[in-house]
Amino acid sequence: MKVAVVHETDPLERRVALIPAAIASLTKVGWEVVVETGAGESAGFSDADYQNKGAQIVDDRPAAFQAADVIVQVRALGANLEAGRGDLELFRAGQIVIGSCDPLGNPQAVQELADRGITLFALELIPRITRAQSMDVLSSMATIAGYKAVLKAADQLPKIFPMLMTAAGTLVAAKVLVIGAGVAGLQAIASARRLGAVVQAYDVRPVVKEQIESLGAKFVELKLDNADAEGQGGYAKQLSDDQVKMQQAQLADIISECDVCISTAAIPGRPSPLLITADAVKRMRAGSVIVDLAAERGGNCELTQADQSIIAEGVSILGPTNLPSEVPQHASQMFAKNLVNFLLNMSKEGELEIDLEDEIVRNTLAARDGQVHSQRLRDMLDLGPLVLSPTTPPVDHLAGNSE
Ligand code: NAI
Repeated sequence: MKVAVVHETDPLERRVALIPAAIASLTKVGWEVVVETGAGESAGFSDADYQNKGAQIVDDRPAAFQAADVIVQVRALGANLEAGRGDLELFRAGQIVIGSCDPLGNPQAVQELADRGITLFALELIPRITRAQSMDVLSSMATIAGYKAVLKAADQLPKIFPMLMTAAGTLVAAKVLVIGAGVAGLQAIASARRLGAVVQAYDVRPVVKEQIESLGAKFVELKLDNADAEGQGGYAKQLSDDQVKMQQAQLADIISECDVCISTAAIPGRPSPLLITADAVKRMRAGSVIVDLAAERGGNCELTQADQSIIAEGVSILGPTNLPSEVPQHASQMFAKNLVNFLLNMSKEGELEIDLEDEIVRNTLAARDGQVHSQRLRDMLDLGPLVLSPTTPPVDHLAGNSE
């Protein structure tokens, strides 16, 4: 099988799907890797780096698409709605595309790829189960985002984070509140603590209390009826309107005392919960900073604007939507490792085996044989139940392209 690593076409994307160090794991099991020239440059990896690890460099994008059985992308169509469209005419029917493609945000893009006969694996749909942890791209990228969010906040704040007792007097440590203690939130807590801030954190799932405290932060308990706040796969459920109002009011009191608020609260496939109202921002001290990692789906703060940094009521509100791209080398390293683990899970004697009995394969298979395959996406697109053709086997061995 031949896998192609192509240049990311989203103008703000600096990551690459596969890095040179990851190639050996694929060649060892009989795969070949072709790389579009310059694909890794923005992440710090040259063509020569790839060549030295056994990859073949191809001069142009159509040639890379032509050569490949499998195309790997950080941002496939769906996660790259404008520029990604240019690839539609390059795909061959039956070709496999693996990457992030925001299937829950843009299910129509999955339909478009299905219409082209593409077999699409959407990495966002990897289940949060122990066996899939090493393939979990969302968790890897959230780790980077949590760390970088703290650096952005520290850079913006007109104070320093640690307490300092100097001959020129004492500087009080910055107070940081992290909302949402999932992967991004826990990394934000750890990073803010490392910089010396006093950190507290809130999550609607009370089970994370212990994790928050183990990082040296205080767990904020709000008075809510949240006995059933944990939904499927360890993600949170949506709260009732009353619970939301109680949450907003109590958080506003806490936020008014903080220098920095990093919000990461998310429920997959839904708009971000509104947790920081405009009134709460008004009550913050001038110079305070909010970094809203949930900006892409509307934000946790009422005033957030995606991909903008604004100042409202003297408070800086940052709404970055792609922090991993700002740390492209390590983000690509993690993405590539997850991707290789995902590929190796399906690789059998140098071929690719689509085994629908495997929960990881079944969950991530978004499109195949001209159909949107994932029932979750079919429901979003009002497509009704998937009817597999009697010729579709539960285990399908795909041999490589002989060209
Ligand atoms: P996650 O699902 O692991 O964590 C989200 C946390 O928010 C969960 O612990 C959940 O219980 C909590 N939560 C949900 N609703 C809540 C509410 N109403 N109140 C309090 N807590 C609530 O997600 P992960 O992987 O940590 O990602 C967090 C966010 O960061 C997501 O919005 C994700 O899209 C975003 N992200 C942003 C990036 C960027 O560059 N801006 C990059 C990567 C992730």
